[in-house]
Amino acid sequence: MLCKTGILALLALFCLAESAGIRQRRDSSADQQYDTIVVGLGAAGTAAFSKLARAGRRVLGLEAADRVGGRVKTIPFGDGIVEFGAEWIHGRNNSPSYELAVANQVPVKNQEVTLQVFWSDGAEMNASMTHVVTELMYMCTKDAPDDVPPQPAGDYFKAHCLEMIKSKKPELLQDKAFMEALFRSMDLNIGSLEGVSSWNEVGTTSDYEDLDEYLYTSWHKYGYKTLFEILLNEYNNGQGLPKTAEIKLNKEVVKIVWPSEADSNVVVKCKDGSEYTAKNVIVTVSLGVMKERHTTLFEPALPEEKVAAINNIEMGIIGKVILAFDKMWLPADTTVVPFFWKTEDLAKVPADEEWVTHIGSASRSMGADNVWVLWTSGNTTKHVETLSDENVKKHVVSLLRRFFGSAVPEPSQLIKTNWFTNPLTRGTYSFDGVSFAAHPTSRHVLGAPLTDTSGAPRLLFAGEATNVNHFSTVHGAVETGIREANRLLGDDSNSIEPKH
Ligand SMILES: Cc1cc2nc3c(=O)[nH]c(=O)nc-3n(C[C@H](O)[C@H](O)[C@H](O)COP(=O)(O)OP(=O)(O)OC[C@H]3O[C@@H](n4cnc5c(N)ncnc54)[C@H](O)[C@@H]3O)c2cc1C
Ligand SMILES: *[C@@H]1O[C@H](CO)[C@@H](O)[C@H](O)[C@H]1NC(C)=O
Ligand SMILES: *[C@@H]1O[C@H](CO)[C@@H](O)[C@H](O)[C@H]1NC(C)=O
Repeated sequence: MLCKTGILALLALFCLAESAGIRQRRDSSADQQYDTIVVGLGAAGTAAFSKLARAGRRVLGLEAADRVGGRVKTIPFGDGIVEFGAEWIHGRNNSPSYELAVANQVPVKNQEVTLQVFWSDGAEMNASMTHVVTELMYMCTKDAPDDVPPQPAGDYFKAHCLEMIKSKKPELLQDKAFMEALFRSMDLNIGSLEGVSSWNEVGTTSDYEDLDEYLYTSWHKYGYKTLFEILLNEYNNGQGLPKTAEIKLNKEVVKIVWPSEADSNVVVKCKDGSEYTAKNVIVTVSLGVMKERHTTLFEPALPEEKVAAINNIEMGIIGKVILAFDKMWLPADTTVVPFFWKTEDLAKVPADEEWVTHIGSASRSMGADNVWVLWTSGNTTKHVETLSDENVKKHVVSLLRRFFGSAVPEPSQLIKTNWFTNPLTRGTYSFDGVSFAAHPTSRHVLGAPLTDTSGAPRLLFAGEATNVNHFSTVHGAVETGIREANRLLGDDSNSIEPKH
């Protein structure tokens, strides 16, 4: 500013005083309110917050929404609860979420996957064919072995599947309607696992690793929100976390000023004008939010390689239309119903209803007895998010009656998700696309801390997308929160309890 010119002695003197004042303010520890600020209190942020708080750090959690949980959101619905966001603990072996549930005596349950296939003309597939479909769905979409060259996953699955059918059940190949419906259903199924419009957006190469044992473990009537009560030590009359830890909701962070000099603070500015200072900050906003906001969120701007990582990792989108009924029309042991369309029926669907043909399946919810969830992904989800509830209800009722007959009653309640429209998420979870093989270290780069001149981490990153092997999951997000808390604490345990 003007100080640089230094023409007037008086002005120079004033400038000197002011800069000394600033310097003094910055150095005073009274002005540094916190050791660490955690931006975002989803699974990653809350895990980091919890561990730092338990270690006695002065930690501030700033969350833009009016609740903690982020992409975990349990809501009362039907005759119980439903999960607006994450549903399952995907595997138990070494899962921090499963371990916390067990340690707190929450009796989580496995959800059995029992398929029942219906056709668009209302016919029900018989038990022996349904068994074949169940096997094929599983066998055909298994991860490609390491020696398969990187390619679109759909192409690989289809080729691999055709080979398998040719050698084991070649008569199926004659049934054109079956083969078309099968591949269409597999495509939509991969779509709603990964959050893509087509299974060919996903690549065959990825570092993702499933945890072992019971991939569909559910918090059922307890709800996934229980994980947050446990993390914050509020579950079962818990006494909460130490008073040195503080959470502020409705605090949207708009700017993070991070220093390169060893002696100055991180300054975090919120939309409401408030500012907080700390030694360091852990940023846990979703990859979707990073893609949209990183240019304005950070000062100075993020280094080039970090920006490249943000651009190179893909953000998926899935959607749920959740329905409650006064009367159920399928036996309670049917848990998943894939929709098998006949090509001639597809051709007759009116244009404004075309999107319902991209609903891959319906599944029963574990937290309520009278609820079905319809799954969409990619472009279809974006479209459904723009429609009114009334419009969606009309079309999904006609879909259900086409497949299950006129006995399907009007739903008593309907709710649909909006994770793409939501500016605090902009999608559901990340996936490894076809181009993953060209930049395999992106997640590692995204999660690496930025340091000051002394090498101390100042701007740290956690969140689902920064987990190299367990991205797209809650347990993966929790692991990254613990990872960053450990970085600041010099701890190395996987637990939220610090080593003393
Ligand atoms: C529909 C759906 C189904 C899923 N199903 C499963 C499942 O069955 N099993 C599973 O393991 N995982 C599932 N997932 C994925 C899982 O929910 C996520 O991987 C995980 O919850 C992400 O946690 P996170 O802390 O990384 O991010 P988030 O939960 O997104 O947390 C980030 C937080 O930052 C806040 N925030 C954003 N911007 C700002 C800002 N500017 N200032 C302050 N705060 C901000 C957000 O409000 C949010 O609370 C599902 C997700 C969705 C959406
Ligand atoms: C089941 O359906 C398939 C194909 O529609 C048919 O070939 C088979 O004979 C049926 N099996 C039984 C046991 O009805
Ligand atoms: C999804 O929408 C994008 C953008 O409009 C388009 O390029 C893409 O082809 C669509 N994907 C599918 C499978 O329809």
